[in-house]
Amino acid sequence: MSSVYQNLANEYYVGQIHISPNIVLAPMVGVTDSVFRRTILSLGGCGLVSSEMTNAASVSPRARSRHNQLEFMPEERPITMQLSGNDPDLVASAAKTVEQLGADILDINCGCPSPKVTGGGHGSALLKDLGKMEALIKAVIAAVQIPVTLKYRAGWDDNSLNYLDTARMAEAAGIKALALHPRTRAQLYTGTADWSRVREVREVVKIPVLGSGDVKDAAEALRRLEVYNASGIMIGRGAMENPWIFMQIAQLRRGEAMFEPQPSDKCEFMLRYLDMMIEDAGERMALNKIKQLIGQFGVELPYSAKLRETVHRADSVGAARSHIEAFFEPYMTVQA
Ligand SMILES: Cc1cc2nc3c(=O)[nH]c(=O)nc-3n(C[C@H](O)[C@H](O)[C@H](O)COP(=O)(O)O)c2cc1C
Repeated sequence: MSSVYQNLANEYYVGQIHISPNIVLAPMVGVTDSVFRRTILSLGGCGLVSSEMTNAASVSPRARSRHNQLEFMPEERPITMQLSGNDPDLVASAAKTVEQLGADILDINCGCPSPKVTGGGHGSALLKDLGKMEALIKAVIAAVQIPVTLKYRAGWDDNSLNYLDTARMAEAAGIKALALHPRTRAQLYTGTADWSRVREVREVVKIPVLGSGDVKDAAEALRRLEVYNASGIMIGRGAMENPWIFMQIAQLRRGEAMFEPQPSDKCEFMLRYLDMMIEDAGERMALNKIKQLIGQFGVELPYSAKLRETVHRADSVGAARSHIEAFFEPYMTVQA
C-alpha cells in the first residue's frame, strides 16, 4: 500500500550503530526499566530504548547492588545507558563501567530539570556552563569506544537559550547524536515543547538530531518528522499512555490501518507488566511500580480515577491484579 509518509526518513546512525525505525523510547526515571522497555519492544515499532538516568556516582558494583537501573536483557539491544553528573573524571569512569556492562550507546543527561539533580550541578544545570559541559563530554568520549550522545534542553530559561551553541559545541567535541527536548529548564513540563528549535539545530549540525516532547499520537509523530526535519522522534509520556504508539506509527507510515487498542488489550498490557515485574523484581517492587504507573497506563480510560484509587489501596500484588481485572470486567462482557 502506498503512503504519503513513505519518503520520510526511517533510520539514522549513532556512530556505526544503525537505528531503525527512527522512533525511540525516551529515558524516564522510575519508568523505563528493563520490564517496561521489553513490554514496549514486544509490541513493535520502537528502534531504540534507553535506561533510566543514572547518577555517575551510582554505578560502582556496590551501588549497583542497591538498584537495577543498568540491568538489561540481550533482546533489548541496541540499548542506550544514560548517565548524569558533573565531575568529568567521575562520569568518565562511570562511562567505562557502563561500556563494560554492554551498553551500545552512552548518553549524557543535560536536560533533567529536577531541583535535586540541578542542585548538584547535574542535568540541565550544565546548560549554564557550556565550558563545564564540554570538559565533561570530552572526558567521557576519551574514556570509551562506544558512541556518546547528548540529551538536553533548549536553555536554562528564555533569557539564556543556548540550544544552538550547545549543539555546535557537542558536535565539535565528538558527540554522535543529539536529542533536544525543546523546553527550557524554567518551563519544567509546562507550556509546550517548541519543535521549531529542533529544526534550527538540524540546520547547524551534521549529526542526527532527535526531537523529544509532547508526541501523543502516530500522525503527530510523522508530522513532526516531516515539518521539523527531525532525524528521529523520542516518545516518553505518550508511550506510558499508549504503548502501541510505536506500532501505530509504523503502520501509518506503511499506509496500513492502525491497530486500535481495546480495553482488553490495555488490561492484558497491565497484567503482563505486573507479571514480568514480579518475575524480575519481586512482589513488593511490582506492587510499588504498578501503583506508581497505573494512573499513566490508564489515563485515557473512562473512570480511570477509580482504577487508580483501587490499585493504590491494594496491599498485595494479588489484590492489585484483582482490582485491574474487576475494573476491566464490564468492558470484556460488552466486547464478547
Ligand atoms: C517521569 C519522567 C521521567 C523522566 N526521566 C528522564 C530521564 O531519566 N532522562 C532524561 O533524559 N529525560 C527524562 N525525562 C524527560 C523525557 O525523556 C522527555 O524528554 C520529556 O518527558 C518530553 O517528552 P514526552 O512529552 O514525550 O514525555 C523524564 C520525563 C518524565 C515524564
